[in-house]
Order: sequence, then C-alpha cells, then structure tokens
Amino acid sequence: MELNLTSKLPSAGVSVFARMTALANQHGAINLAQGFPDFNPPDELIEYLYEAALNGMNQYAPMPGLPALREQICNRLENLYAYKADPDHHITVTAGATQALFTILSAFVRPGDKVLIFEPAYDSYAPAVISNGGIPEFIRLQSPDFRIPMDELEDRLKKESFRLILINNPHNPCGSVLTEADIRHIAEITAPYQSILVWDEVYDYLVYDNKSHYSALQNSELMDRSIVVFSMGKTLHNTGWKIGYTVAASYLTQEIRKMHQFTVFSVNTPAQAATAKFMEKQPGFFSQLGSFYQRKRDFFLKQLETSPFDFYVPEGSYFALADYSKWYEGDDESAAAKLVGELGVAAIPISAFYHDGYDPRLLRFCFAKKEETLEAAARRLNGRN
Ligand SMILES: Cc1ncc(COP(=O)(O)O)c(C=O)c1O
Repeated sequence: MELNLTSKLPSAGVSVFARMTALANQHGAINLAQGFPDFNPPDELIEYLYEAALNGMNQYAPMPGLPALREQICNRLENLYAYKADPDHHITVTAGATQALFTILSAFVRPGDKVLIFEPAYDSYAPAVISNGGIPEFIRLQSPDFRIPMDELEDRLKKESFRLILINNPHNPCGSVLTEADIRHIAEITAPYQSILVWDEVYDYLVYDNKSHYSALQNSELMDRSIVVFSMGKTLHNTGWKIGYTVAASYLTQEIRKMHQFTVFSVNTPAQAATAKFMEKQPGFFSQLGSFYQRKRDFFLKQLETSPFDFYVPEGSYFALADYSKWYEGDDESAAAKLVGELGVAAIPISAFYHDGYDPRLLRFCFAKKEETLEAAARRLNGRN
C-alpha cells in the first residue's frame, strides 16, 4: 500500500514541453516546442571535453566552480558589461540556470515570503518558489509588446513586501528586451525596499537588430542587491551539459554557496574545463551569436509572412510568438494539438506560462534549429507539405 503523502507541488504534472514533445513524436511532427538547438555545439568544444576527461579532469571540481572557468567568466563580464567580478567572491558555477534559480530561492526564501514573478514566466519559477515555502505573486506583462507595467509594479511594492523579484531579460517566451531606461526605472522604484532582484539573463547574447543587451551588471547600485543568472547551454548550443552560473556581491554569493554546497556541491568537471578552454581559445564564437540567431529568426519569419499565423518579431531570445486566431478560434492548448495533428509542427501554448491558465491565444515557436528544419516547418505552417 502507498504511504499517505501530501505533494509539495500538487498541481505540477507532466510539463507542457514533455507533453508537446510526446505529441510531436506520436505524429512525426517537426518539434519547435522545446527550447534547444537541433545542431551540435562547435567541434572544438567537444574535443576539449574529450581531452579534459582523458587528462584526468574526472573528479569533483571545487564547490564554487573550476578556477579557470570562473576566471574566463570574469573576463567575459568585464569585456561585455564592464563589470569587474572577483572569481573568488562573486561567481558560482551551477548545474545550469534552473539549478541556480532554485538554489537562490532556497538560500533566501523562508516560509511565507512573497516572490514576485512577471507572467508569462519560465515554468520553473513558481514551483521553485513553492517548493521552498514561498508564495509566488504575479504581475502580467503588458500586451502587445510584453513590457513590465511599471506603475503596477510601483503600486504593488508600496502595498506588499517581496523577498525576491524575478526578472527575465531577454524574455522567454515573449522575446522582449529591457532597455537601459527600463532597468534604471526598475532600479529607482525598487530602491526603497528590501527585495533581492534576481535577473535571469540566460539569453544575453541573443539580442537583435543592432541592439545590445543591457545587463543589470551595468548598474552598480542595482548590483548591491541583485543576483544575475546565466546559462552556458543557451550560448554554446549545449543545453544538455547543464552549466550555468550566478554573479552577485560577496554577501549574497556567500549565502548562495552555502546552499549550493549542500545540494549540488560540485558541477561536472570535464564540462567546466572544456567550457573554460573554449572561452579562452574561441572568443570570436561569442561575438557572432547575435547575428547567427538573427539570421535564423529572419529566415523563419520571412517564410511565414504569407501564413495564417501572425508572428511577433522578437527583439531577443530564440523564440517567436504567433497569434493563431485567423487559423483557429479555440484555446491555445487545442490549437497546439491541432497544429501537431493537422500541420505536423509542435509549438508551446502560452497559457502554460501563466499560473491561472490565462490564455492570450498565442503559440511559441523555437527557431534555434537548422535552416532545413525551419524551412520544412514553415512549409507546413503555410499549409504545404
Ligand atoms: C528564461 C530561462 N531561464 C532559465 C532556463 C534554464 O536554463 P538551463 O538550461 O541552463 O537550466 C531557461 C531554459 O529554457 C530559460 O528559458
């Protein structure tokens, strides 16, 4: 007989990503649902991984991350954002951004603490808050361009106290990007309060149309009370390697590391070594990432101009949202199912990114795919097989 247990996450079922992937497989559909590339990381990176494993990098790495990787991360942060980080006190390597976020929440959220989330939101945020005894509170991003409603934020801050505020920039699934002025505005209105700001900047290289990502790292006042989270998986086309990191002032890093030490402790050693070597030897790879993904975005969206789907042009990330209402009048879950069944393309229904099932009738398509995959998907979305 089973034990009498109460789930800590009673409403969490199989994720929408797993459901859509299973449907895609069942129908032999092209899977633009899950957010990962269908192409390999650079060959050199794979060679460095092999070399690291062959040369004995196979035991626990130091708890905060391999020194060589933290060193490379500091160089990157200084070159891109003029942020001078100390590898010993400001950087912690994690098993991807998801673990970084969970560890941050474990380190700072006590039972009953409120955490503010902007929706639509990456699906791990609210469950990670709840697992740690916190209470997720929500603000909806404003249509049509998915901006943060600053007046509402200011109003909520006056009325409630938030232990943490989670901000994703560039944004998944909306593809919106915060400007320097937005970040200054957020800094101003949050300044009087004791909230830690957590910036999920995993898509920081993926900003298009000659704009560049403005990081919270560029605002020194904010960095006294912020933690910034990055993911190598989104950068090196290797989401399966699960390498991420946090950047924060030492008093915050100290608490993150306490929690990291007793949960994950140490992140994949050869993958860290290979990443560090790649960052050192192939700096050119990173500077072309924005144009690499912009070409994919433009290639995909151009072919869909004549389709019944109205695509938003994302400013960043590798996702594009489409309004499907000219093609189908039902809710987004059934639209996604119909898309797989009738057109043979899998996408994510956006209601999955809202805690209350709010349905703006949009589907999310991932364009981190080979041109041939994007071309075949676009053909199907245009009703041609
Ligand atoms: C906004 C956002 N944050 C975090 C993550 C997770 O990153 P990682 O694969 O490094 O855990 C993702 C992955 O899709 C994401 O889209």
